[in-house]
Amino acid sequence: MEGKASRRDWLRIASLGGMAVAQVSAAPQQPARGAASVSGMKFEPRDIVRLGVIGVGGRGNSLVDNFSAIPQVRVTALCDVVPDKVARTQARLERKGKQPPALYSNGDHAFEDLVKRDDIDLVLVATPWTWHVPMALAAMKAGKHVAVEVPAARTIDECWQLVNNSEATRRHCVQLENCCYGYNELMVLNMVRAGLFGELSHGACAYNHDLRSVLFSNQGEGLWRRFEHFNRNGNLYPTHGLGPVAHYMDINRGDRFEYLVSMSSLVASLPAYRREHIPPDDPRQKEVYKCGDLNVSLIRTVKGRVIQLEHNVSSPQPYDRINLIAGTKGIFRDYPPRIYVDGSKKEEFESIDGYKAQFEHPYWKQTGELARELGGHGGMDFVMAYRLIQCIREGTAPDIDVYDAAAWSAPGPLSEVSVAKGSAPVPFPDFTRGRWKA
Ligand SMILES: NC(=O)c1ccc[n+]([C@@H]2O[C@H](COP(=O)([O-])OP(=O)(O)OC[C@H]3O[C@@H](n4cnc5c(N)ncnc54)[C@H](O)[C@@H]3O)[C@@H](O)[C@H]2O)c1
Repeated sequence: MEGKASRRDWLRIASLGGMAVAQVSAAPQQPARGAASVSGMKFEPRDIVRLGVIGVGGRGNSLVDNFSAIPQVRVTALCDVVPDKVARTQARLERKGKQPPALYSNGDHAFEDLVKRDDIDLVLVATPWTWHVPMALAAMKAGKHVAVEVPAARTIDECWQLVNNSEATRRHCVQLENCCYGYNELMVLNMVRAGLFGELSHGACAYNHDLRSVLFSNQGEGLWRRFEHFNRNGNLYPTHGLGPVAHYMDINRGDRFEYLVSMSSLVASLPAYRREHIPPDDPRQKEVYKCGDLNVSLIRTVKGRVIQLEHNVSSPQPYDRINLIAGTKGIFRDYPPRIYVDGSKKEEFESIDGYKAQFEHPYWKQTGELARELGGHGGMDFVMAYRLIQCIREGTAPDIDVYDAAAWSAPGPLSEVSVAKGSAPVPFPDFTRGRWKA
């Protein structure tokens, strides 16, 4: 935990449009509320960080395990609408020798009592997407910093609500984008900062993950996530791929997403899976899905960079976030990780193994052993937890603030608008209100 490092320092570690855009109604530029920006706002330093956790399903429990593995973290309260779930998580913490957290499970709004407690510094939100914003707002209004699972918001109005309330309450709203802390992502960030790829021109990223069995499960995400496919057609889950590329490109800190065009394929894979795996008389056979199997968006930044962003959770396929970044001197792409730098003897990708000694990120050097042992998504979940707690303990600004939460979530609703308008260009709101130029 030692060694003070602000976000800017972190980004330096180890190295140091002209087209007219169709104006559509989905992206209103909300007027400033008069509150100052929270960009760069520091946490109040504290040695012990006390957490309240809302939602202890699959993800919430993983967050509890990873955050509570940090000696200076205390989980003081848990909330879930299912009483057994909070009881089980409480028992697990007790078995690990931790103080039993207080439990809240009295209905959908029990979280409103949790956020009022005076022994919580940070609220974690790991509930279905429709609950993220009401819970984040309640936490901030009760004076707590909040860290929200992905995507932080589902509509542009919700994105603005997070921004406006973070500014008004002077509380951070962090997005828990663990993929920014992956081994390869942090190493590539170091390479970008060292200029290995020259001037960046484009990136590509995705959330391509076969979730068919999860979506039709009778527990966990099967109880809510499939519903998102009823009325929405676009990229439902943009941040896992986009977050790391946004970091490579310094989005909101020198560049900005300017506009997006998006196209969705037909809907085929969920009905096909259902025909084969769900009984004919099951009520789910009557459901109608609107979200195309594949959604592809292209984002253009103000500096003229292009990002290809994919979403596909319905087709049989190996997991793939693409994680591509390219510029005037080279290219990296993942799954599997490979690199090509200008001037290489052969015009072929090579392994990244030879680059690890120079570019492995200090967080992985410091925490990699424990991160791999805990295992959340290959260790990145612990590195994310470690880094957020480090920022709070040392009183620095978070790596991912409310403007990032809004900008990385925005391709969800913006892609829906673009798809509905025959792939028309849709502008991104400037959630930073001009401060991205800083
Ligand atoms: N970052 C990642 O790698 C990652 C991985 C999985 C899920 N997620 C995200 O985490 C969130 C939760 O997903 P999950 O897989 O844990 O889903 P889940 O269904 O397993 O868990 C959600 C939990 O929220 C509880 N809940 C629902 N409404 C509530 C309310 N009003 N008050 C309190 N609790 C409530 C449910 O009972 C359930 O226990 C989602 O936003 C998802 O996108 C992120």
